[in-house]
Amino acid sequence: MPRKLAAGNWKMNGSPEALAMIDALSEAHDGVNVGILICPPAHLLAAARVQAQNGPVKIGAQNCHSAPSGAHTGDISAKMLADVGAEAVIVGHSERREAYGETDADVRAKAEAAQGAGLTAIVCLGESLDQREAGEALPVIRSQLAGSVPPDSSAENLVVAYEPIWAIGTGKIPTMDQIAEVHACLRADLVKSLGAAGNDVPLLYGGSVKAANAAEIFALPDVDGALVGGASLTAEDFSPIITALNQS
Ligand code: PGA
Repeated sequence: MPRKLAAGNWKMNGSPEALAMIDALSEAHDGVNVGILICPPAHLLAAARVQAQNGPVKIGAQNCHSAPSGAHTGDISAKMLADVGAEAVIVGHSERREAYGETDADVRAKAEAAQGAGLTAIVCLGESLDQREAGEALPVIRSQLAGSVPPDSSAENLVVAYEPIWAIGTGKIPTMDQIAEVHACLRADLVKSLGAAGNDVPLLYGGSVKAANAAEIFALPDVDGALVGGASLTAEDFSPIITALNQS
């Protein structure tokens, strides 16, 4: 993925009709210098890929299984996602860590499977409000990073998204100093673990990003873009975020 990236996570939202927004984004941002990624639910991936053809929008998925195939009813492998045109997959989103008990080891296995299938793994991590208030945000995030990122990742097949759980879908965001502190720490740890490649891994902030706060967040050092939930569901909301990133 390009270093600057605006990624939209539709979660369990969207319909075939909603894919029309890809046309609107393609028209508005043709030739733009940042990556644009839409991650719809799995049943829309193939149609989204067709809709995005030849335009600036790339398509990604929201989860994958760590195995290549087998008796895993209801699951989908990374290779299957690649087969329908996904170029990236979100792994370790806090909603999945929480609802399905996904551990750092599970997330790393999924990320490895994704990278093995030629996809970029977008590894999500972030602290809870209790952890933030107890002063544990940095150690929690660093331990998630160490446990969730495959050790031989490159800047081409890894994106890391910092998403404080208490900021997701709540309208609350950390202070700019808090975001900058976490991103500086993630960058330093990535350089330690991956070497020079760690300097180039895109680092996204996620959690209540919208047009009104995007420019301020993108101005921070080591913030290369955003993973956007609610505000990625319509072109009207997502487009100004892409514009703000392009201008940052
Ligand atoms: P939000 O979600 O932008 O709706 O807060 C972000 C995410 O969960 O990736």
